[in-house]
Amino acid sequence: MRALRVHERGGPGHLIEEEAGIPQVGIGDVLVRVHAASFTPTELEWPSTWVDRAGRDRRPSIPGHEVSGVVTALGYGTTGLAIGDAVYGLTDWYRDGSAAEYVAVEARNLARKPDGLDHRTAAALAMVALTAQQALFEHGGLAPGQVVAVLGAGGGVGTFAVQLARAAGARVVAVARPWAGDLLRELGADVFVDVDRAPLPEVDLMFDLIGGETLRRACGMVRAGATVVSAVEDPPVDVNRRGRFFVVEPSRPQLEELGKRVVAGELRPVVGATWPLKQGREAFEAKHRGAQPGKAVLLVSEES
Ligand SMILES: NC(=O)c1ccc[n+]([C@@H]2O[C@H](COP(=O)([O-])OP(=O)(O)OC[C@H]3O[C@@H](n4cnc5c(N)ncnc54)[C@H](OP(=O)(O)O)[C@@H]3O)[C@@H](O)[C@H]2O)c1
Repeated sequence: MRALRVHERGGPGHLIEEEAGIPQVGIGDVLVRVHAASFTPTELEWPSTWVDRAGRDRRPSIPGHEVSGVVTALGYGTTGLAIGDAVYGLTDWYRDGSAAEYVAVEARNLARKPDGLDHRTAAALAMVALTAQQALFEHGGLAPGQVVAVLGAGGGVGTFAVQLARAAGARVVAVARPWAGDLLRELGADVFVDVDRAPLPEVDLMFDLIGGETLRRACGMVRAGATVVSAVEDPPVDVNRRGRFFVVEPSRPQLEELGKRVVAGELRPVVGATWPLKQGREAFEAKHRGAQPGKAVLLVSEES
């Protein structure tokens, strides 16, 4: 099969599209013929991109942990999905990913793709929907009428978080670079603030997608009693502010529910750009250069 692979560290310049073996299905897995895939720009810095769960070097590795495609084989003991099912979801961080013609995934991490959701939208949905849902409601406890600030709101997760928070009756402060202003207002942000001039005193919950100095500065601005949830690193909070870092969990029920809301037109994953698999390196490089709204999607088969 054709796959985007990385043999050595050092950023997206090391990604190459080449021939690779079709992955073996394990117990409880399905083999998915990939129609569309997506990725998180920081993946090549994650330890799990380079080692398996036992800590063994697993290079060359295939990036991309968001998939939409069709089941072509079942592993031993796999239940709940059948050959021919169209599915979408997250793949394991510690195994080869979805930037390839086939990927092996635990069946329980996938949901059936509704007919009204095309493969490219489904691939763009899995990571952003689950991350935003879990950050805002499970970790952040967001309630109607509260004020939430989303830091890094113009990217994949941020554009979805703004819509989810707004749909839940929260007031949304989108903190992003100026290029993202029009898009974020269109998606329902009540207030758009340039990241360098963010006034955050009224915020009940801050959802961070940037980390570093920006997160530190923002933590210093939110009021006592506010909650800070970061998808990037442990937030520097004190006794007056609750804070936590979290890693998204696969969830078939949440994907099914959020998929229905997308089909109903209530939520929209933002697909900023699409690329053929053979230009996967360019897709990563474009996201690294910045100013790319929403998700970049790799189109792997004709049907996508
Ligand atoms: N813990 C988890 O489970 C989990 C899950 C998903 C994602 N994440 C993490 O969450 C982060 C966001 O993911 P994503 O897929 O949404 O990435 P993305 O599409 O690249 O979005 C990040 C956004 O933040 C903006 N940004 C970055 N640095 C900034 C700065 N200093 N000031 C202002 N804006 C800045 C970017 O703007 P520019 O493009 O202009 O730089 C971009 O719009 C990544 O670090 C990713 O690894 C974690």
